[in-house]
Amino acid sequence: MKTIIFNWKLNPQTFQLAQKLFSDYQKINSKLKNTFLVACPPFEYLWLLNQKRSGLALGAQDCFWEDLGAFTGSVSGLNLKTSGIDYVILGHSERRSYLGETDEIVNKKVLHAINSGLRPVLCLGEDLKTHQQGETAVNNFVKKQLKKNLSGFEVLSASQKNQLIVAYEPIWAISSHSGGVADNPENASRVIRLLKEILTKDFQIPSVKVIYGGSVSSKNIVSFLGYQEIDGFLPGRASLDVNEVQAMVEACEKTS
Ligand code: PGA
Repeated sequence: MKTIIFNWKLNPQTFQLAQKLFSDYQKINSKLKNTFLVACPPFEYLWLLNQKRSGLALGAQDCFWEDLGAFTGSVSGLNLKTSGIDYVILGHSERRSYLGETDEIVNKKVLHAINSGLRPVLCLGEDLKTHQQGETAVNNFVKKQLKKNLSGFEVLSASQKNQLIVAYEPIWAISSHSGGVADNPENASRVIRLLKEILTKDFQIPSVKVIYGGSVSSKNIVSFLGYQEIDGFLPGRASLDVNEVQAMVEACEKTS
């Protein structure tokens, strides 16, 4: 069973458009057998769409690392969980670059999300410069980033650790950087195998799902589906077009 986590980012422009998109998602979701979908709208729509939800899982695109207190503008994992939201994207490269989120901050958020009963979708991946330095540089980068972002994981129970989902998102392949050109599936699957090896050896979580993100669309999804170790996808731009969503989901349904 493949998992697709749709990252709407700061889109669409109005709540009316978000409602329409969400209702199309719900229709698609109601017919699925082998694919699990999570829609991640911006906060301002998330609460409202949650009230119209039937069956489709919802996620946020961020949360803070404390339960409550004097943290202006923040939303806690507990806020999300008690509102019926089960997933949260954390450490996305756009938050790391535009908002200065460090590995330490991402680590605190991941632990907080797990302790709040959420399923964090930890995004990580190398930038273009590291990519151009070759495989060894990429391996070293993602290994280090994964370990930093999961620091303190050892004390969690097995079921808590298994709440985690990891998304390998090479920054240079995200559509806003690449203009829609994805990583090649062979390379993405190699890094995903490496991440799974570390999750198994260093964190004793062999069954954690590792998905791929970066310009995933109906045009390239089938080539990624050829690699069994890729447990699913995190589309951004393509998640705003219902025809794209439908086509990506259909491809997963056929292969899962
Ligand atoms: P993209 O976005 O599919 O538009 O490349 C993916 C992401 O940034 O999560």
